[in-house]
Amino acid sequence: MKLQSFYLLTVFFMGLFVLKSQAYTATISENLSAFCRVWIEDSNHFRIAGDGKGHYRGCGSVDFNHIDFNDQQYYIVVKVEGSTKEEKVRGPFDSNHSCSLYGEVDSWGFDC
Ligand SMILES: *[C@@H]1O[C@H](CO)[C@@H](O)[C@H](O)[C@H]1NC(C)=O
Ligand SMILES: *[C@@H]1O[C@H](CO)[C@@H](O)[C@H](O)[C@H]1NC(C)=O
Repeated sequence: MKLQSFYLLTVFFMGLFVLKSQAYTATISENLSAFCRVWIEDSNHFRIAGDGKGHYRGCGSVDFNHIDFNDQQYYIVVKVEGSTKEEKVRGPFDSNHSCSLYGEVDSWGFDC
C-alpha cells in the first residue's frame, strides 16, 4: 500500500470515530400506565431511532429510556395506543435532552 493511501485511510477512520462519538442521547423517564411508542425524527420528520411503526410497548415502569442517534437537529415524538389525545411532538433540539412521560391513557403529559 502506498504511504499516501495509508494516510487517507487513517484520516477516513479517524473521521468515522469522530462521527460515532458525536452521538446524541434523548433520555425519557417513562411513568405512563399505557402502551406507547417513543421515537426520534430528523428535521424532515423522518423517523431515525426509537420505537418503530406499530410497535407499542408498555411504558409503565418508572424507567429511563435512552435513545441514541447521530448528532443532528431532532424531534421527540410520543404516541399513546388507544388514547383520545393526539401524538405529541417536542423540539427541535440540537443537543442531548431529557423528557418526562407520565399519566394515563387519556390524560398523559410529555414535558421536555
Ligand atoms: C450526549 O450523550 C452522549 C451519550 O450519553 C455523550 O457521549 C455525549 O458526550 C453527550 N453530549 C453532550 C454534548 O453532552
Ligand atoms: C409515577 O406515576 C404515579 C401515578 O401517577 C405517581 O404516583 C408516582 O409518583 C410516579 N412516580 C415517579 C417516580 O414519578
